[in-house]
Amino acid sequence: MNRKYRKTVIAGNWKMNKTPSETKEFMTQLKSIMPKGRWCDIALCVPAVCIPAAVRAMRETRVGIGAENCNAKASGAYTGEIATNMLVDAGCKYVIIGHSERREMYGETDADVNAKVLAALEAGLTPIMCCGETLQQREAGITAEHITMQIKLGLAGVPEDKIRKVIIAYEPIWAIGTGLTATPEQAEEVCEMIRSVVRKLYSSKNARAISILYGGSMNDKNAYELLAQPDIDGGLIGGASLVPEKFVKIIEAANQPTV
Ligand code: 13P
Repeated sequence: MNRKYRKTVIAGNWKMNKTPSETKEFMTQLKSIMPKGRWCDIALCVPAVCIPAAVRAMRETRVGIGAENCNAKASGAYTGEIATNMLVDAGCKYVIIGHSERREMYGETDADVNAKVLAALEAGLTPIMCCGETLQQREAGITAEHITMQIKLGLAGVPEDKIRKVIIAYEPIWAIGTGLTATPEQAEEVCEMIRSVVRKLYSSKNARAISILYGGSMNDKNAYELLAQPDIDGGLIGGASLVPEKFVKIIEAANQPTV
């Protein structure tokens, strides 16, 4: 982390977990144990049907609610899809884009990710754009090449004055939901590389200002060490974001001296 130049962000991704009623229950518990200090931004990205309950519960708090996906089109005949202006109107501040589960299971391409990032920015949402390599890609030594491509294609057309609004999440696919966390050094190496790609595409100032998160089995035990890395500005947390006590411990782990 480096709080001098950029925001620290602790974001939860609930994936396909919790009903609206469970959302209300979770938020009540979270509010009762929420740390008072404001050392990081906090986001919870929840299933679409849980957004109203989450927004209502967290209205007077510092927790921003987000969606887990969006459609790049403004409106029209796209049965089952949700447009960015609908998310804004529902009270969302964030939207996760290009999660590996959407890329792998629902065929999302880098071009789709790019269109969604542009649509989210246009609507005033903060996109959390995900990237990450498979185990085979890591073992083949093409992690940097693969992620550089994902970043370049995902950010295509994002103007200079909007790039700081984008949050990038590095999520090695082999570490998601597996209990296998990247070591702090492995995660730092890639996050630093991502920042250097942003530096080449934009400028040093923009690269220094952008928040890059790590995701993949981050939990209350390993968060402190991961967040201590200079280029890891927060976490995108799956499983551990479903339990208020665990999520709060990760928020607390973000309260540490930074470089
Ligand atoms: P886990 O924290 O459950 O490994 O999930 C990570 C993730 O995919 C967050 O987007």
